[in-house]
Amino acid sequence: MVSGKDVFTKLQRKLKFGQIGGGRDAFIGAVHRRAAISDGFTEFVAGALSSTAEKAKLSGEDLLLNPARNYGSWQEMLEKESALPDGERIDFVSIVTPNHAHFEPAMTFIKAGFNVIMDKPMVLNSEQAQALIKAVEENDIVFGLTHNYTGYPMVKEARHLVRTGKLGKIQRVVVEYPQDWLLTKLEAEDQKQAAWRTDPARSGIAGAVGDIGSHCENLVSYITELEIETLCADLNTFVSGRQLDDDASVLLRFKNGARGILWCSQISTGEENGLNIRVYGTKGALYWRQEEPNYLYFTPPGGPVEVHRRGADYLCQAAQRATHIPAGHPEAFFEAFGNIYMNFTDTIRAKLEGREPTGLELDFPTVYDGARGVKFIEKVVASSKTDQKWLPFD
Ligand SMILES: NC(=O)c1ccc[n+]([C@@H]2O[C@H](COP(=O)([O-])OP(=O)(O)OC[C@H]3O[C@@H](n4cnc5c(N)ncnc54)[C@H](O)[C@@H]3O)[C@@H](O)[C@H]2O)c1
Repeated sequence: MVSGKDVFTKLQRKLKFGQIGGGRDAFIGAVHRRAAISDGFTEFVAGALSSTAEKAKLSGEDLLLNPARNYGSWQEMLEKESALPDGERIDFVSIVTPNHAHFEPAMTFIKAGFNVIMDKPMVLNSEQAQALIKAVEENDIVFGLTHNYTGYPMVKEARHLVRTGKLGKIQRVVVEYPQDWLLTKLEAEDQKQAAWRTDPARSGIAGAVGDIGSHCENLVSYITELEIETLCADLNTFVSGRQLDDDASVLLRFKNGARGILWCSQISTGEENGLNIRVYGTKGALYWRQEEPNYLYFTPPGGPVEVHRRGADYLCQAAQRATHIPAGHPEAFFEAFGNIYMNFTDTIRAKLEGREPTGLELDFPTVYDGARGVKFIEKVVASSKTDQKWLPFD
């Protein structure tokens, strides 16, 4: 049985969005565009898709954007979209630029009253994160962050099992995200995605920790709802001449007394996107693998392993809502990404319809999650630079 979401919108039109970044040769912008329209109630109508006006326009032409809304810069998009009437103007903007180009467009669009969804890590430092929180609160806009792994149905089920006490008290968490694509000095070959990710001016103070360690932190927080009390980090740069970390080990102590290990790496030979999480409680353990996302493993003490499967009737409401095709037809990265957009856009619709969004609709990463992620990056980098064993998180 597949329920997916109910079609309940009273808004008699699709939501409209514009994108900043995601031009020719870009990676994640195309995923966002596909995710945003995946439930059929949102359309892509405007863009400032690249860092130069010329490439931005060419990128928009590739995507058959209406020439009048194919902008040369995000500043132009803001000015021209602001002048359009309600219902025609974009309802939200999707920001998919490299990390250094998140804060300024986000702040400017938020202050102009636009809803914003953007990719992680949210901004470059906690000062920017706090300013963004203030702007979101003051302007009463809907803000989403694409920590997309929390969009998977079986991740939602994992959280549900923890919340409903199936694991008992959590004592141990192990999360890892190994990749191997930066095993060589790819940035020296001018590979676009490697170039900015290893450049402190565009990536921020961390490499692998910001790029994928931030996803680990977010996944642990989403599933377990545990709060980090102190941490001890060891960052390394294996590739000679690289400016930022490409491998990190982090020990975590949580406020409830649980202990954790977080490992992220971009030089781990043979690994693709090996995001895995294990959570051990007094009454049971969970295991979820991103590369096999339709299954969640639960093991009670002394008992056989239970395999919980996407598409089954026994799953929680949040997991069922995030499921779109029957069990056995795999859903994966695109669908999980689409689920973040589905809840984000349903929350915008609720607002436009003048009703409170439901708990299920509000199930997407927020500006507060983004700020915690930025703080995590800062603390991990600071910890790695000192000889002090445990660094307080708060
Ligand atoms: N959630 C995920 O799984 C995931 C995966 C990949 C990347 N990301 C994040 O998404 C962001 C983009 O990463 P990417 O790998 O797609 O980068 P990319 O280099 O492939 O693409 C970035 C795009 O932004 C454009 N751009 C840069 N400055 C701009 C500006 N001022 N105005 C308009 N466009 C501008 C570039 O021209 C390019 O088209 C990063 O923050 C990254 O951390 C998230």
